Formats: sequence, C-alpha cells, structure tokens
Amino acid sequence: MEENQVISLPRIGEKAPEFKAVTTQGEINFPGDYKGSWVILFSHPADFTPVCTSEFMTFASMEKQFNDVNCKLVGLSVDGLYSHIAWLRTIKEKIEYKGMKDVEVKFPLIEDITMEVAKKYGMMMPGESNTKAVRAVFVVDPKGIIRTIIYYPLSLGRNFDELYRVVVALQTADEFSVATPADWRPGDEVIVPTAGSCGVAKERMESKGDIKCYDWFFCTKQLEKEKVMKAVLKK
Ligand code: BEZ
Repeated sequence: MEENQVISLPRIGEKAPEFKAVTTQGEINFPGDYKGSWVILFSHPADFTPVCTSEFMTFASMEKQFNDVNCKLVGLSVDGLYSHIAWLRTIKEKIEYKGMKDVEVKFPLIEDITMEVAKKYGMMMPGESNTKAVRAVFVVDPKGIIRTIIYYPLSLGRNFDELYRVVVALQTADEFSVATPADWRPGDEVIVPTAGSCGVAKERMESKGDIKCYDWFFCTKQLEKEKVMKAVLKK
C-alpha cells in the first residue's frame, strides 16, 4: 500500500459496505446474505499463526452462543482459500489448546488475496503491517448498519466474551430503549434516557419509583437478567 494513501473507513451508524467474496463455505454477498441477523465481520492477520489460531479455536467454540442471540460470524484474512482450508483442517485435526480440541470452524472465512475487502473496511493499517490485516471487528445489525467497530493490533488476541457482551448490550439497548453503563452485564442496572426538562428531572430525582438518579443527567433502573436474556435469545 502506498504511503499517505487516503483510506476511507466505514463508520458506526452507516450501512456496511457491500462486497461479494469467496469463503470456505462458498460465495457470500455481504451484508445482503445476513439481512435479519446480527453479524460479526472480523479480520485476522494470517493463517498458520499462533495468536490467530487461539482466536479461531475460541470463536469457533463459542459459535453456538453467538448464534443463539441471532449473531453470525464471518472471518477474513488476505490469505488464499487453500491456505484457509489447510489451516482450519490443521486446527481440527492437530491442535489441542486450553481444553479445546477437535474444533471445527463452521463459519465462513473469506479469502481476500487482492485485499479488496480489507481495504474497503479499513483493515489494512500500514503503520502496523503492509501485508497483513489488523484484528478488526465490525458488528453489523439485522438492517446492515454498522453498530460497533473495534480494532486490535497484530500481537493482541481478542476477548470473545467482550464481543458477546457487545452484541447482547446492543440488542438490549434496542429492545428496551436504554443505554448500558461501564462494564455492564445482563442483570446490572441500565441507563434510562435523560429527562427532557428540568421539571421532569427534578420529579425523577425525587421519585421513589424504579428509577434511581445519581444526578439530573444520570438515571438508571434495574433490568433483570431473565428479561434481558429472554429478549436477546428470541431475536
Ligand atoms: C499471530 O497470530 O500470532 C500473529 C500474526 C501476525 C503477526 C503477529 C502475530
């Protein structure tokens, strides 16, 4: 990639850029094929590398957990299809890691030797590597809108419990019209929209109802874990 080349990055709140690609599970049309589902599109730097192997084994082991909240997974690297197939076969047949073994990666892994998709999604970061994608994560909603973007450098393996928390938190925000505070997990209190006027805020501050206000701009309410999980598991 040329130095100083301007790369436009997809942004939160915008439509996920469209592409067609060859994957280990056949051709896909993104995001069209995923309409109605949440989908995590993520890149990894290279096949047959240790951090990526640990990530794929972890993500594949959690695939059902993501599918249960209507979230599909799609991987990408700038390696070719035969490399992907050989690497995933090696993982299944030979690697035992942290109690995970015989791990079959069933979600599609995109071959992107031209780097067309990686460039479109701002996954190439020349300051980190000219030849490998960084560890990018795009969470896309059922309407094809990008809802979260997270980037990690080559040396840092992702936390997949956090990615699951992100999907559940986004769905909870949509379903209950709330926001989620720092380190939120299902069952923790959620943030209710700020009151529109001083009068309403004062009323809320003084109310003994289910809303608790730390100040006029910071009000929360309890949202039971069962309610959250019932909503996200039926999505
Ligand atoms: C890894 O997955 O281990 C890795 C890949 C590219 C650069 C550094 C580490």
